[in-house]
Amino acid sequence: MSEVQVSEAEIAVHWREEGYFAPSPNFIGQANSSDPAIFERFSETNFPECFKEYADLLTWDHYWHTTLDTSNAPFWKWFVGGKLNASYNCVDRHLAKHRDKAAILWVPEPENEVTQAITYQELYKRVNEFAALLQDFCGLKAGDRVTLHMPMVPDLPVAMLACARLGVIHSEVFGGFSGAACGDRVADSGSSVLITIDGYYRNGELLDHKVKADEAVAAAKKAGQTIKTILVFRRHHGQSASKANWVEGRDFWVDELLRDYRGRIVPPVSMPAEAPLFLMYTSGTTAKPKGCQHSTGGYLSYVAGTSKYYQDIHPEDTYWCFADIGWITGHSYIVYGPLALAATSVVYEGVPTYPDPGRPWRIAERLGVNIFHTAPTTIRMLRKLGPDEPKKYDYHFKHMTTVGEPIEPDVWRWYHQVVGKGEAVIVDTWWQTENGGFLATTMPALMKMKPGSAGPGVLGVYPQILDETGNPVPAGSGKAGNITIRNPWPGIFQTVYGQPERFIEIYYKKYNKDSKSKDWRDWPYFAGDGALQAEDGYFRILGRVDDVINVAGHRLGTKELESATLTVEEVAEAAAVPVIDDLRGRAVEMYVALKPGYKPSKQIEDKVAAAIDNLIGKIARPKNVWIVPDMPKTRSGKIMRRVIAGISNFTGTGDITTLANPEVVQTIQHHVQGEKVQRGQVPRELSAQELEEIKAFGKVD
Ligand code: WTA
Repeated sequence: MSEVQVSEAEIAVHWREEGYFAPSPNFIGQANSSDPAIFERFSETNFPECFKEYADLLTWDHYWHTTLDTSNAPFWKWFVGGKLNASYNCVDRHLAKHRDKAAILWVPEPENEVTQAITYQELYKRVNEFAALLQDFCGLKAGDRVTLHMPMVPDLPVAMLACARLGVIHSEVFGGFSGAACGDRVADSGSSVLITIDGYYRNGELLDHKVKADEAVAAAKKAGQTIKTILVFRRHHGQSASKANWVEGRDFWVDELLRDYRGRIVPPVSMPAEAPLFLMYTSGTTAKPKGCQHSTGGYLSYVAGTSKYYQDIHPEDTYWCFADIGWITGHSYIVYGPLALAATSVVYEGVPTYPDPGRPWRIAERLGVNIFHTAPTTIRMLRKLGPDEPKKYDYHFKHMTTVGEPIEPDVWRWYHQVVGKGEAVIVDTWWQTENGGFLATTMPALMKMKPGSAGPGVLGVYPQILDETGNPVPAGSGKAGNITIRNPWPGIFQTVYGQPERFIEIYYKKYNKDSKSKDWRDWPYFAGDGALQAEDGYFRILGRVDDVINVAGHRLGTKELESATLTVEEVAEAAAVPVIDDLRGRAVEMYVALKPGYKPSKQIEDKVAAAIDNLIGKIARPKNVWIVPDMPKTRSGKIMRRVIAGISNFTGTGDITTLANPEVVQTIQHHVQGEKVQRGQVPRELSAQELEEIKAFGKVD
């Protein structure tokens, strides 16, 4: 590791301190949490019992006896002895008071299709009937895993809740992922049932989605897992949106099967608090995505509690989280959190700018949305394509969220002034797939907002910045380091599915003080993000410190991208680097070196892009593929990603004296930067923060 010259912690980051914005008296007056006494209740002296307050938002079949069990550290167990059912908590228990209320408002992408309101009563029926089908027709039972590869249609939450009703562990794969990526996740989770749909709308086009199921079957089989049953929902009544072949005995239309289950009620299975509720795969530092396993009691308590206090959801609100349910944000803050609180949750099928960038604001106006939740990449895109659109529509948000990437203060201000019309509070919520729910943000009625900074740790969560050697980096020092969480919280994932050793290795080993210790204080959680803490205690998140690239809020592992590229016959070596992108935050550029005997060509570049589309999905498609004569390497043969990242971003190559082949750097630089000038892709001047990120990229190599 001789090439690591500066650690993240040693980099002093200078940025302009932003001014504060205060919540309005109107917001404070109605907020779920406007009494600062709540901070006292969740102070460290009351940990872990403070989380009883979150758990008490749920209905338990059996109350728990131990709030936090640390005996098998760091595999924390929350609310031990407790039993509950997640589907009961999100559906059945609301029937008495809210039977006729919309649980889900589904907005199809085509504007001539009407919004569908699914009441709690109807959700109850649909969940039960589908649960009956899963139980009787598929023979599924508690503990089995099922993979869902579904877009943003109401059948997705129905299927998730039906699984939860039976104690079946769902694993939803983002609909935009390729069939092969889905198949890998099917195999890793050991699912024999795949739930999908014939098609869905995206950007005005009815996509054939069922074709991906065949690719998934093939990929799963290669990895040793047979998909026995494919359940296919239908996008349009009585039609099929797919031309894919239909395998008798394997493929089944859900609507046809459901005829046998009309009106069937399945009693919710009472599950132990620590029973897994779902898996959510995410990218990491190896080629293989990891299945983050989330619990029933801890997770549901945590998303209910954070939805109440940080999303400020009241039962009478119309809440729209404009994320995809295929990501953790959608699981926690479209489905489980809001439905646990009996809210009305809007689910939109399509893209933000279809058919024009006024679409989100028309939806908000029509449905009376008053809480809005999205990612910086969407905000940037809406600002670019329709900066004045929000003014044309008569909607009023009381509360808005940003999540998934750092938000530039300038973008934040547009969000606040134009989208929020200066009236809405904003919470900038920092967290991860692994975490279940928010880790750092502001309590909306009780704390001021600061553009570009998430905020302090949330209730009962104590983050701390550590340097490489484990020493705390004090607030206000102007120094960045690795953000860690000192304590467990109920939403933390339980393990990496099937790989408990990776769970410890990736998240706990770095800062663990004693591997035998059963004291949580010895097990800080390593998040993999660089951050710094200002004098006021607010955290500013800088981005990943590992080799993960955050494209439009989607985590892509460089190793994953590289191994997809290496499937192209002509490619000998591959390296993925991030480039700063004004809309997507970061985009991917692939560098490839060819095997002897092959010449660079546009065909090979296209083959690389196609391989990434097929093996991961279109979201991962590289902005550019650069075929280079050789990769810059250390004397021990490691590819120096930071050097090519510097070239792609025009930020300089840094020190190259330790390279085995320094001469190649100039050739690459000349070629890549020359092309970029021609293609009109010279980046704007980068901020100090972006510069540091590019310089630090690949330091784990
Ligand atoms: C980044 C999404 C800055 C961060 C919920 C993290 C953020 C990764 C923020 C997790 C934020 C998330 N400000 N960066 N508010 N929220 N990130 O697993 O790098 O898809 O580690 O979870 O996104 O992405 P994931």
